[in-house]
Amino acid sequence: MQAVSVKGLITPEHISLFKKILGQQYVLADEESLQHYGHDETEQLVFLPEVVLKPRSAEDISAILKICNADRLPVTPRGAGTGLSGGALPHLGGVLISSERMNQILEIDERNLQVTTEPGVITEVLQNAVKEKGLFYPPDPSSRGSCFIGGNIAENSGGPKAVKYGVVRDYVLNLEVVLPSGEIIWTGANVLKNSTGYNLTQLIVGSEGTLGIVTKIVLKLIPLPKYDLLMLVPFASLEKASEAVSAIFRAGFVPSALELVEIDALKIVSKMVESSAVPVNDDIAAHLIIEVDGNNMDVLMSDMEAIAELLTQFEAGEIFFADDAQQKAELWKLRRRVAEAAKTSGYTIEEDTVVPRAELPALIRGVKALGKKHGFAAVCYGHAGDGNLHIRINHPTIKNSHGSKEMTEALTALFILVKQLGGTISGEHGIGLIQKPYLDTVFKEANLRLMREIKKAFDPNNILNVGKIFDLIK
Ligand code: LAC
Ligand code: ZN
Repeated sequence: MQAVSVKGLITPEHISLFKKILGQQYVLADEESLQHYGHDETEQLVFLPEVVLKPRSAEDISAILKICNADRLPVTPRGAGTGLSGGALPHLGGVLISSERMNQILEIDERNLQVTTEPGVITEVLQNAVKEKGLFYPPDPSSRGSCFIGGNIAENSGGPKAVKYGVVRDYVLNLEVVLPSGEIIWTGANVLKNSTGYNLTQLIVGSEGTLGIVTKIVLKLIPLPKYDLLMLVPFASLEKASEAVSAIFRAGFVPSALELVEIDALKIVSKMVESSAVPVNDDIAAHLIIEVDGNNMDVLMSDMEAIAELLTQFEAGEIFFADDAQQKAELWKLRRRVAEAAKTSGYTIEEDTVVPRAELPALIRGVKALGKKHGFAAVCYGHAGDGNLHIRINHPTIKNSHGSKEMTEALTALFILVKQLGGTISGEHGIGLIQKPYLDTVFKEANLRLMREIKKAFDPNNILNVGKIFDLIK
């Protein structure tokens, strides 16, 4: 991996000002730290920051941003570094602000079914804390065991449960945000309905750290469903598996997860985690993982049976029902680790396409055809119930799409197809650094102009995560 390094923006005077604000030990400029914070999970890209800062509070961040704003220093906010579109990569050098010390759940409000948290809390830690009170925070990205809730806000993450329960955006009620000027604001109110002016809360969600730095988060919770059932359904054809997906909804069911995993992806991940839980014989092309949840076990059983019956029309093979918590956990572990396993097996480039659900078979056909034409192998997996297909690409020589003319051509063709099918280029991973060349396949210049104007209103000096989502000047 070749690290890109921009130097000379940060002076010794800046370093001593930062040390005065945070204390010596929270200002890092040693080689090892710069390497560590120079990459996330995006392809094999590495860009070194010049200094890493670890604030503890909104006030710390405010003081830091005032300095950066005055001296026009590039600032990259970072959560746990699990992103897949390069949002946390400090590609311009400068200051990297890590939220890892802002890791407290501040209040679980059981009267109102809300939680207030700092951004550096691991998503699964938050989910488990509210679960202990019988409450549920559904958005569950595959990286939930390591990603931060702040990063989930920045990217508007999803995950398997989104198909029934919605994405992060649907749970965010209010945010404390430090603006590039150093001003600290709350974007809304801790209420379930709000028609008070422009919705700044939802503008910040999914803004990928380009408008402000989130320092406190108020989330809506729901009651925890009592039961869930999980089944794994093999198909001899990838196309049949993808056709079955929309049929399930048309027949009146809303599963709490409906995931698709192509067999090559399952082979890779089974090998990595040394699991033989799922048979991977040559007659199988893909699996659907289907979960239903709720409070009435009889209803869930009858829904599962009806879905199983429906799937026989799509030539489903022998269905495996997960019997107990351990079998469910094993299946979910395999599913959640697909991206990591595929990356270590050479499928370094990940796309996050999303189309209207019934167009999934056409998208999959298109992906395979493009692979043949442009000389890459692709495995498909992801949130089929949402029409959200992750595509892992293994090109014999190209391992980073960023800056590669050949991959840009192939991906442009893919995104034109996605657009033709009525879809868009990212469902839950964001645009960040690596998807920005393709924004104009789905947006008109007027859309991009509006976005640039919003950026300017929040960040007139252009310091915060600059060059993410779009370039300011085309
Ligand atoms: C997943 C991540 C990569 O679905 O979004 O596994
Ligand atoms: Zn996903």
